[in-house]
Amino acid sequence: MERTLQGKAALVSGASRGIGLAIARRLAAGGARVALVARGAAPPEDMPGAIAIAADLRDGEACARAVAEAVERLGGLDILVHSAGATQRGDFLALDDAAWADGYALKLFGAVRLLRAAWPHLRAAQGNAVLIAGVGGRVASADFTIGGSVNAALMNLTKAMADRGVADGVRVNCVNPGSIRTDRLTGRIATLAKERGLDMAAAAAAIAAETGVARFGEPEEIAEIVAFLAGPGAGYIQGAILDADGGWVRAV
Ligand SMILES: NC(=O)c1ccc[n+]([C@@H]2O[C@H](COP(=O)([O-])OP(=O)(O)OC[C@H]3O[C@@H](n4cnc5c(N)ncnc54)[C@H](OP(=O)(O)O)[C@@H]3O)[C@@H](O)[C@H]2O)c1
Repeated sequence: MERTLQGKAALVSGASRGIGLAIARRLAAGGARVALVARGAAPPEDMPGAIAIAADLRDGEACARAVAEAVERLGGLDILVHSAGATQRGDFLALDDAAWADGYALKLFGAVRLLRAAWPHLRAAQGNAVLIAGVGGRVASADFTIGGSVNAALMNLTKAMADRGVADGVRVNCVNPGSIRTDRLTGRIATLAKERGLDMAAAAAAIAAETGVARFGEPEEIAEIVAFLAGPGAGYIQGAILDADGGWVRAV
């Protein structure tokens, strides 16, 4: 693999599993020194130079603390990737304020706080940030009101920070995954299976059919895109919102 990220320092949130872990692995394989941040972040044995920072990013101060620790231990920060997110699905009338506050605290305010803390370092390094949102921000659905609105907000935040980044020399881009094979998707399949009395395979097929895709994506496929956006080949890509959804979104 080409080591296009050699010498770069990267912080990846939500990196204890799923998409975030795949991103951390891919950035490390590209030569970056990576800080993996999550509540259950563990020191990865197979990622030389990587460090783990355990943090609950819903906590107002935790984002700044995680950035400060990453900067100190990695010696700077060139790349910020925010992949932590855990918004609750369900009937709108069954979602209380706590569910909304929780979803926003981690995914939207986490992005805001990580960007605010990381920005001076990204500016100093002329680096970049990639936010992981989701196609639910484009395609609204009645059972995804929290995640959908958070993702839409993240897309707007991407454009706003990219606007600022033009002056500061920081690129900011966004990736919208479709349905990607992680614990999060497995949980969703299990819920649907229970609701409709289906087995897991039939529930998975129902989700694929309803979203019009031939298959689910793999975390590594999202990681590949992030590595590109964070690397030198994407030097003129600013404020892009890239759907990686197997064709789910048909609208222009
Ligand atoms: N998978 C999909 O199909 C899909 C589709 C569209 C968008 N997305 C988005 O992509 C992102 C990653 O999804 P995923 O499927 O990889 O999810 P996942 O497998 O559930 O992983 C979520 C990550 O976020 C971390 N996290 C959760 N709560 C946290 C907290 N309070 N503080 C810090 N970290 C926390 C988790 O670590 P700990 O539990 O150890 O803290 C974990 O590393 C999310 O924003 C999700 O909405 C995913």
